[in-house]
Amino acid sequence: MCGIVGYAGPAAASPSSRPIDVALQGLSRLEYRGYDSAGIAVLDNGSVLQAKRAGKLQNLRNALGEQPVTTSRVAIGHTRWATHGGPTDENAHPHRGGREGELALVHNGIIENFHALRTELEEEGYTFTSQTDSEVAAHVLARDMEQCGDLTEAMRRTVGRLEGAFTLLAIHRDAPDTVVAARRNSPLVVGLGDGENFLGSDVAAFVDATTQAMEIGQDQVVTVTADTVRVIDADGAEVADPTRYTIEWDATAAQKGGHPSFMAKEIQEQADAVRSTLMGRMQDGLLTLDEMQIDEAVLRTIDKIVVVACGTAANAGAVAKYAIEHWCRIPVEVELAHEFRYRDPVVTEKTLVVAISQSGETMDTLMAVRHAREQGAKVIALCNTRGSTIPRESDAALYLHVGPEIAVASTKAYLGQIASCYLLGLFLAQVRHTFFPDEIAALMADLEELPDKIQEVLDNTEQVAELARSMKDATSVLFLGRHVGYPTAMEGALKLKEIAYIHAEGFAAGELKHGPIALVEEGQPVFVIVPSPHGRHSLHSKVVSNIQEVRARGARTLVIAEEGDDDVLPYADHVIRVPQTRVLFAALLTVIPLQIFACELATAKGLDVDQPRNLAKSVTVE
Ligand code: M6R
Repeated sequence: MCGIVGYAGPAAASPSSRPIDVALQGLSRLEYRGYDSAGIAVLDNGSVLQAKRAGKLQNLRNALGEQPVTTSRVAIGHTRWATHGGPTDENAHPHRGGREGELALVHNGIIENFHALRTELEEEGYTFTSQTDSEVAAHVLARDMEQCGDLTEAMRRTVGRLEGAFTLLAIHRDAPDTVVAARRNSPLVVGLGDGENFLGSDVAAFVDATTQAMEIGQDQVVTVTADTVRVIDADGAEVADPTRYTIEWDATAAQKGGHPSFMAKEIQEQADAVRSTLMGRMQDGLLTLDEMQIDEAVLRTIDKIVVVACGTAANAGAVAKYAIEHWCRIPVEVELAHEFRYRDPVVTEKTLVVAISQSGETMDTLMAVRHAREQGAKVIALCNTRGSTIPRESDAALYLHVGPEIAVASTKAYLGQIASCYLLGLFLAQVRHTFFPDEIAALMADLEELPDKIQEVLDNTEQVAELARSMKDATSVLFLGRHVGYPTAMEGALKLKEIAYIHAEGFAAGELKHGPIALVEEGQPVFVIVPSPHGRHSLHSKVVSNIQEVRARGARTLVIAEEGDDDVLPYADHVIRVPQTRVLFAALLTVIPLQIFACELATAKGLDVDQPRNLAKSVTVE
């Protein structure tokens, strides 16, 4: 949660708007990480100047007025998702540190020992103006600076005093050309510019200024000026060769490009997204995963797979279970990462843990990864964000390659995650010889047809959009599915809850008669995801029976069925068609009408589709 930006540029011959422009632009790119408040700080004529406002970034822009200029060479900025202290102006970042407010600091994460530190600082006469844990870090850093006179060393000492998760960025009046930063369990990347350098929670913060980035490791401190970037570790030793990389995303990928919302844009990008995930995987008749750094001999010894993930990524993981168990004959458990971490899961050296995360920064998933590795399990990460923490801490990483996902509600990453699960499942089948290579090639050929089929769904959205608009006053919607239709039902319900604020439940259709059918009354909208009649016939006929059961009790049935499936017609109030495909691969198609339904309905209600209330894109606290 929270987005952080930093900038260090050249001394301006005359006052310049560049540091403030860069900070505001970076914050607008990171606003999806939290939008409870926004603020920036610069150094002007030897003192800290800052502005911060509760609410969205626009409030800060309004407060700053037209084109603010400064003599500052540096700037820091913050967009907040509130943890400690409500979303007020006082609790907005930056926070001032020191007896004279000589320092400004922004923070992402939670400082767990803040209470003890605050008591200690208050006893020493430091005063506090907010309820946040972050203000404590500002004062600790200012005190360390007062004692040692060097901002980098002060930050190193401060990191040693703090417990919990944090990215910290700070500027100090006595170091006018410097931004200092540090991270533990929260994200931070450096953007390497030409005569200027950048810091951000992710590369979206500066991708329009540079494509060169540097990773910062756990507990490392980075000191940035216009021309230098210096990294030290927790012991103060120079980090000789920090990992550098080229950012693949271009700046336009992080813009709406004429769409009404990022979510609408990202839904429309899904055919290309899945095409990118699948690209270049078949080589000389074999499925090739270059990133698979876990030895094939080890993969052959695996006797259990545990998928750990949260939210939408967990729904993608649920699809993986159906595919991998069927193809590889290995038991697959799917666990919400936070539940996995704090029970006592049975994980051994023969367990393969698959961590799925768009951001690669979800703290619950990261903690599950660490726990699994401590038990000796091998971990493969399926992530979208290069250089993020989860892939870096895993044994291998398979990237989704779907481009930046900005909307809080995950759509194209979900499809990329499912496609990656298919790749992983088929690769394991190849390595473990549960399929012949030509069988895998045939499955891959079918899978590679999916992007065109996704496009077909996307080209025919008006019926669902119209339906959504007509249902904008709905108060409850149910979603039913079996097999991979079950996670699709869960995902459809999650989308509607998170962006349209409508009560929605996804059920395994077979579970209906065990309780949930009591919810059905006259006019209750029920989406039903119907599997292909050409796959396992019994599965199809069971779902058709489920449609009849809810219809008989007055439900309004909205049926998602394959083209040519006429068995559903007598029981469907509305039929939404998707192209034919294998039963397992249908998960890439049937969810799309549900994404569009949620997006259109929320838009019709006048809601902010990209920034739903109470949420943030990356949940970087437990
Ligand atoms: O970045 P991650 O994939 O780890 O995020 C996991 C969930 O927080 C995320 O999928 C969340 O559920 C989305 N808001 C769903 O649209």
